[in-house]
Amino acid sequence: MKYSAAPLNHSEIVNYLKKKSIYDIKNEILLGLTAPSKYISSKYFYDEVGSKLFEQITRLPEYYPTVTEKKILKNLVFQLDFDFSNADIVELGSGDASKISLILKQLPDEVLAKMSYYPVDISSSAIQESMTDLSRAFRLKNMTGLVLDFNTQLHLIPQKSRRLYLFLGSTIGNFDESERHRFLNNLYHEMQPGDHLLLGLDRVKEQSVLENAYNDSEGITARFNKNILRVANRLVDANFRPDDFEHKAFFRSDKNRIEMHLIAKRDRQILLGINYQIKLKQGESIHTENSHKFTENDIENISKSSQLKIKQIFSDDKKWFSIVLFEKASIKP
Ligand code: SAH
Ligand code: AVI
Repeated sequence: MKYSAAPLNHSEIVNYLKKKSIYDIKNEILLGLTAPSKYISSKYFYDEVGSKLFEQITRLPEYYPTVTEKKILKNLVFQLDFDFSNADIVELGSGDASKISLILKQLPDEVLAKMSYYPVDISSSAIQESMTDLSRAFRLKNMTGLVLDFNTQLHLIPQKSRRLYLFLGSTIGNFDESERHRFLNNLYHEMQPGDHLLLGLDRVKEQSVLENAYNDSEGITARFNKNILRVANRLVDANFRPDDFEHKAFFRSDKNRIEMHLIAKRDRQILLGINYQIKLKQGESIHTENSHKFTENDIENISKSSQLKIKQIFSDDKKWFSIVLFEKASIKP
């Protein structure tokens, strides 16, 4: 990192989740836990503990996506058909912001001095910590952290200059097809002609490589998965005991995705506040995450369904991970 003694001109964090009703959040979790096939949305992984566990996952030898994507990002800027001068960067699901650091490092100080950066994440602790790190390392014109849900609150992101959106880490793989379509449609409507999107996509590959990445030998992914039950305990006043559940992650070739589940080790009755209770039979699952893997054909389909034009595709030698640059064209294709 290049360290600069000069402070940022402006830095703030706006938390829009506080304005999102806790009633809606409770309802969403209760709906999943009382459904015939139980589920909890993967966005609830990321409290402070979950965000830290995810960071640990990114450093695991088995979890190839982070290291592979970072290798591509390291030398990307000079190859990228995007003019960074007078542009702003909006990063969706920014996490620890280690990926934006790799990009900012490649830009000249004069460009940084005119740039605003908007990290967007549901995890307020991730936004806080990453902004502290970034403001020590780079002198940007402005940095505004936005704590919000990118499924429903994209319209709250300020629109000032020409923008490069980043959506890295294959976080888009955590949507199912209809969620992905809705998300891309919303994003397209927020983008202005000339805005670009840099999208990180994990590729379909050998099943054993995929399954090892979600079943690491240190058990960090299992802890990450079980942590969602602690989050649910807090949000809906439930009494899950995470150790009563087993971590299960496997590849479904019919859907090209890794599914993560929590499997009840024995019959359990769970209280959800004072009004609800659910029964879980031994072996019953709570589905916690889908992580879709993409083919070249999927990249074409993303372009068609989002109406965003593919400008460039960057991949590692093994084609394990791709970063795609899209543009919102001036006239609809
Ligand atoms: N981009 C980073 C982090 C990926 S982890 C990387 O590539 O390493 C996914 C990130 O998306 C987490 O930081 C999580 O808090 C955030 N996230 C998940 N669901 C979200 C949602 N609905 N709205 C906003 N952020 C979300
Ligand atoms: C954030 N997301 C893209 C990660 C993934 O690979 O689907 C989350 C994760 N789940 C288990 N390990 C990592």
